[in-house]
Amino acid sequence: MKHAVDRSYADNTENFADATFSDAVIHWQEQHGRHTLPWQKTRDAYRVWLSEIMLQQTQVAAVIPYYQRFLERFPTLKVLAAAPSEAVMAHWSGLGYYSRARNLHQCAQHVVAEYDAVFPRDPALLIQLPGIGRSTAAAIAAFSYGTRAAILDGNVKRVFSRVFGVDGYPGAKRVEDQLWQRAEALLPENGVETYTQGLMDLGATLCTRTKPACTACPIMTRCVALATDRVHELPMRKPKKALSEKHVTMLVIVKDNQVLMQKRPPHGIWGGLLSLPELGGQQIGLAQNIELDPHAVERALMPFGVIASKENLSPFTHVFTHFKLYIAAIKITLSRRLDIAGQTDHLWINMEDLPKAPLPAPVKKLLLNLLLNT
Ligand code: ADE
Repeated sequence: MKHAVDRSYADNTENFADATFSDAVIHWQEQHGRHTLPWQKTRDAYRVWLSEIMLQQTQVAAVIPYYQRFLERFPTLKVLAAAPSEAVMAHWSGLGYYSRARNLHQCAQHVVAEYDAVFPRDPALLIQLPGIGRSTAAAIAAFSYGTRAAILDGNVKRVFSRVFGVDGYPGAKRVEDQLWQRAEALLPENGVETYTQGLMDLGATLCTRTKPACTACPIMTRCVALATDRVHELPMRKPKKALSEKHVTMLVIVKDNQVLMQKRPPHGIWGGLLSLPELGGQQIGLAQNIELDPHAVERALMPFGVIASKENLSPFTHVFTHFKLYIAAIKITLSRRLDIAGQTDHLWINMEDLPKAPLPAPVKKLLLNLLLNT
């Protein structure tokens, strides 16, 4: 849906301050925001801090039972600081991102030792503690002490990117700086707790990534993304990195009705699978240089037999998540086979057994093509 956007607001690049923005967010939070989350019933900085750390990478519904169990076991910051780390980890078990738990424990010990077990009010001091970044520091200060400090978590980045039509990936420094500038300028003089919770609630309940409820949004009339039909385009996604490229030359060594296979090392690409021997050993990525050596194939074949003929097969590519593998293949027919008893990772297998062998997909493709064409 398109409608007129309040341009005076969107185009104001000199000074982003606008009390009508925070008024709208605060009013909406009071009427429609979340009010019954367990950490909203307190201004105790210990509880606020604990909830903010748990909520950093985890959804509200998953956090609630962990938050409650954690407080039962560690009712105060001092109890947490003095607890063994195994007990802390055990109460985090299942929440994920375990560095949060290790930092949490260290942070508790710091606050006890340096601040007499009272969290500082100043976000500039909070940010120096383990596990507390700029947005978390602001949220703790705002919710515990009413400190006027701007948050910018993932949800709020999405709200601001849309409302102000900010192009670019919000994780990029330039875009993030722009969003922080907005966040700072829009802070209200009063009511920072409600405003902060309102921004979080808007992001979590209305301005969601896939199905935003724009018609219920208190700031829809000033939303640049809505007015320009770009709600689903913003915030922009992380640009995809070009896949790196690796090369390998595989040797299809055949004698009579058998092909020579090699078991791959247990770790790394295709760990433990049966594959083809490669020029230069099985370190994928080396083959390009090795190909420059005109005698590489003859040398590689020496332990296995006497070459009767050599044929270059059509090269092809295989795409992994992090790289693209260029596969060159050479078919080598032997006139005589040597004993390979000493090479425990090599084995000859019958062509008919190939379809059932544990082969990597591109190797299977290569060999089955060959089988069909012989
Ligand atoms: N996400 C981060 N902080 C939050 C909070 N205080 N309430 C709800 N969701 C949040």
